[in-house]
Amino acid sequence: MVVMIQKVRKAVFPAAGLGTRFLPATKAQPKEMLPLVDKPLIQYGVEEAIHSGIQNIIIVTGRGKTAIEDHFDVSFELEHLLESRNKKELLAIVRSVSDMINVAYVRQKEALGLGHAVLRAKELVGNEAFSVVLSDDVIDAEIPCLRQLLDVYEFYGASVVALMEVPTEAISAYGVVDAEPVAHNGAKDRLFRIRNLVEKPKASEAPSNLAIIGRYILTPEIFHSIEAIDPGSGGEIQLTDALKHLLRSRPIYGYRFDGCRYDAGDKLGFLKATVEFALRRHDLGNAFREYLRSLPL
Ligand code: G1P
Repeated sequence: MVVMIQKVRKAVFPAAGLGTRFLPATKAQPKEMLPLVDKPLIQYGVEEAIHSGIQNIIIVTGRGKTAIEDHFDVSFELEHLLESRNKKELLAIVRSVSDMINVAYVRQKEALGLGHAVLRAKELVGNEAFSVVLSDDVIDAEIPCLRQLLDVYEFYGASVVALMEVPTEAISAYGVVDAEPVAHNGAKDRLFRIRNLVEKPKASEAPSNLAIIGRYILTPEIFHSIEAIDPGSGGEIQLTDALKHLLRSRPIYGYRFDGCRYDAGDKLGFLKATVEFALRRHDLGNAFREYLRSLPL
């Protein structure tokens, strides 16, 4: 029997968090709008989804997040101004942001956790597999990280989470998996079949050093699992706990993606991403490199 695997068409972006790690910058501005060089964090994630073949974007927002909606909307005044000044390149950049995607918004009234945020998208997702992108995790990769996960999903038809090895002293900031390697595409150290997951374990209790990074392909049964679980770490409804629940009835895979991940939700991670992205820019890289070299480091 040939089982048809549904195509993933939608990406859910939880964006209702309070951004407390970035106060005071995030007091009156969503952290998803903090710019890395000249593009807001969330746009990196949205572009990754587009480059992975997903155009339907669902953003889970909360109070004080209207800047995100405005960003992905048409700005008539701005476009008119750029047009009248004949700024064609800037006009194209500004237009491409709103042209790129079909976007829908759903509100998460209270920040009750990542699982809770994903559950808010249930009606908009419907009964199909979908992806989740955490825009704090900015991933630079030749093949977009989400695309790498989609390739696994399209092969196995099961949920897939992105994995990365992290040092023991950092492991308790993540969801961590217990997993066994599976040979895939000629590699034995990228794909894993997950045996168990724990959200933010103590370093001494972590089942491995393989951490979940903010990219997921989820089959729609995850919604039932989110509804079935109790609050976990931090008193929040955790997506990791829902995956653990889902594991009782479905296989889940983890994929150690190829690429470089920046934790842009953390000040140091944000600075690292800013410097590296700026150095790579054609229009800024050389001048910026020269400036950095001139610093008495
Ligand atoms: C979330 C997830 C966690 C995952 C992390 C990746 O945690 O709950 O499992 O490892 O994203 O960035 P947060 O960073 O929102 O606390």
